[in-house]
Amino acid sequence: MSFDNQVAIVTGAGGGLGSCHALELARRGARVVVNDLGSAVDGTGQSTSAAQSVVDEITAAGGTAVANCDSVATPAGGAAIVQTALDAFGRVDILINNAGILRDAAFKNMTPEQVDAVLAVHLQGAFNVTRAVWPVMREANYGRIVQTASGSGLFGNFGQANYGAAKMGLIGMMHVLAIEGARNNIAINAIAPIARTRMTETIMGEAGKALDPELVTPVVVYLSHPSCDRTAHIYSVGGGKVSRVFIGQTKGIENPELTAESVAAAIDEIDDTATFTIRGGLAGA
Ligand code: NAI
Repeated sequence: MSFDNQVAIVTGAGGGLGSCHALELARRGARVVVNDLGSAVDGTGQSTSAAQSVVDEITAAGGTAVANCDSVATPAGGAAIVQTALDAFGRVDILINNAGILRDAAFKNMTPEQVDAVLAVHLQGAFNVTRAVWPVMREANYGRIVQTASGSGLFGNFGQANYGAAKMGLIGMMHVLAIEGARNNIAINAIAPIARTRMTETIMGEAGKALDPELVTPVVVYLSHPSCDRTAHIYSVGGGKVSRVFIGQTKGIENPELTAESVAAAIDEIDDTATFTIRGGLAGA
């Protein structure tokens, strides 16, 4: 799969998963905007060296990339990231919303500030960059967007109510943009990755050895390619395993005289996942 003549923006690409995505897209011919604020895992601090070192690596390998060190967390930052792509390369075909931070705490201890900071980078960050790229993709009648979600939001994980909520926000955003972007050939999908990076290495221990971040990138590359005909799909990916995660609706029951008691009596049947549908939008089947 080649990306000749295409331009990709990868946010938070100064290290970890984002740098793997940026390097591989560039190796396959894309010109890449390597965005990274250069912050610590908790989002504090900033530095231009993270983004620049990935640009240097791409350039040394014969690829083309430019660095951008704006924060995704503000509308001005989102606009500046997209403008960097337009100034350098004149187009944007691919956006990988990947930048992220952690501020974990058990819910009983979670502060409003921990909630705001995490929502600002993951959820509003994706809005800020996607909002800026949307008119460019609509005008070109083409776009591929990948959201970086998480098993934490899809399935739950202790101490990550802020993070899980932000990550599921990205899924809601994806479902709506898949519908709104369809007529302009803009596809948007999500990954729930698992990989050994600075964000996870302290908690993964031995298990992390098999979880190279490079093993997440192939799914991102596939979802970024013109040949990808999927939209609004979620893929769990890590350590070479890939599977689809989906939201299904059970067959349930129908009772025009529904009461709390009849719900209680039928709750096992309502919950029964033996028959389910995956709906294509609220208005879909
Ligand atoms: P990482 O910490 O290596 O990468 C995140 C990057 O985002 C960092 O380079 C950081 O400087 C950058 N960043 C933070 N705030 C930013 C901002 N406001 N603007 C621009 N850049 C900013 O961690 P990793 O693991 O590579 O994470 C990448 C994405 O994957 C994140 O969204 C993370 O939540 C997600 N993820 C990772 C998992 C894993 O197992 N590593 C599991 C599930 C999700």
